[in-house]
Amino acid sequence: MEQVESVVQKRTNRRAFLRNGALAAGAATVGAGLIARGIPALGEETSGHLPPGDAAILRFLAAAEIIETDLWEQYAELGGVSTKEVPGLKFTGGNPLYTAALQILDGDMPQYITDNTDDEFTHQHFINAYLASKGAETVDLSHFATIPGSTAKGSSGKKRLTNLMNLNVDTSYWTRYRIDSENPDLDPNFVFPQAVDIDNRTAIPRSDNDTAGSTVANPTDHLKAIAFTAGFHFAFIEQGGTSLYPSLAQRVTSRQVLRILLSIGPTETMHFQTWQDKAGNATPLTDVDPETGATVTFKDLTKNQPESLQANLIMPEPCPFLSRKFPICSIIRPTETKGAAMGALKALTDDGLFIGQKDQRFFDLLRDYAEDADEAQREE
Ligand SMILES: [Fe+2]
Ligand SMILES: [Fe+2]
Repeated sequence: MEQVESVVQKRTNRRAFLRNGALAAGAATVGAGLIARGIPALGEETSGHLPPGDAAILRFLAAAEIIETDLWEQYAELGGVSTKEVPGLKFTGGNPLYTAALQILDGDMPQYITDNTDDEFTHQHFINAYLASKGAETVDLSHFATIPGSTAKGSSGKKRLTNLMNLNVDTSYWTRYRIDSENPDLDPNFVFPQAVDIDNRTAIPRSDNDTAGSTVANPTDHLKAIAFTAGFHFAFIEQGGTSLYPSLAQRVTSRQVLRILLSIGPTETMHFQTWQDKAGNATPLTDVDPETGATVTFKDLTKNQPESLQANLIMPEPCPFLSRKFPICSIIRPTETKGAAMGALKALTDDGLFIGQKDQRFFDLLRDYAEDADEAQREE
């Protein structure tokens, strides 16, 4: 018991330090916004009128949504459409060559990218506003946005929280939703094969070098490979949200917080469903990155593929659920609640999104949010 208390105390102290540091660093930009209202007294963890577990789960989700927003914003600057609907998004004409390569996957890609970005902005704004309305501590990661972004045409050039230029995209979601005999919750050791091996590859043009030689009518294979990597990455990100919300919903107490999770989660699923459909349109090619030497090969998933890879199997194949004694069932997977937040954080980290983040406090803070969310228990 004492041991548990000292761990909790240590964490609270560290959080207090981080928050105070964050507050000092962010004070200029925070202003009189929502964040200020959510900041607790020195060293004190505030849940306001929310059950502490619910506040912890919402804070982890707010952090995840802020990270999602940051990466989607980069995609939207380069490959989206002009819009006034997304406050904070700077669209200066995009990158027409990258956009043309994305449109090989679907002509509507730019619209979808901007709409997904819009959704993420609203998710994080809503969750933080809800926390603040209950007097609970909110989440602000803005002072950790220090990673240099793309310098290609269309990029706002601002510093980022996430790095899209060295991604290891786990594409096992593809086969996970197409294999009807396996569920990661029932057999965590089963290895779902990758649809594409994407290691240390960029999903955006890093500079105008990556678009050199391309025309709108005829993007180079190198630029296509970048766009196709983005296509598979979009689905990776959104299937993560698809699992995260139902996983965490199982441990919330307040009916209203449950409603929030049950209402946001399925929008992630709508995104995932769209993106995995589009990614399957990637055309076959191999590209060796001239800067890193990393190779990627896309094959034609629309023809002569086993069921586990077949591009148009975008509806979830049923699979075993809860126990193999039950008949198979078409479901989201995984949805195991134990360790769900840490699992999500690990997936984002392994993806390479934080490569270039030099401030250890960023990783400490995210881990604390995840640990707190995973310790949350449903109150009776
Ligand atoms: Fe989201
Ligand atoms: Fe999302």
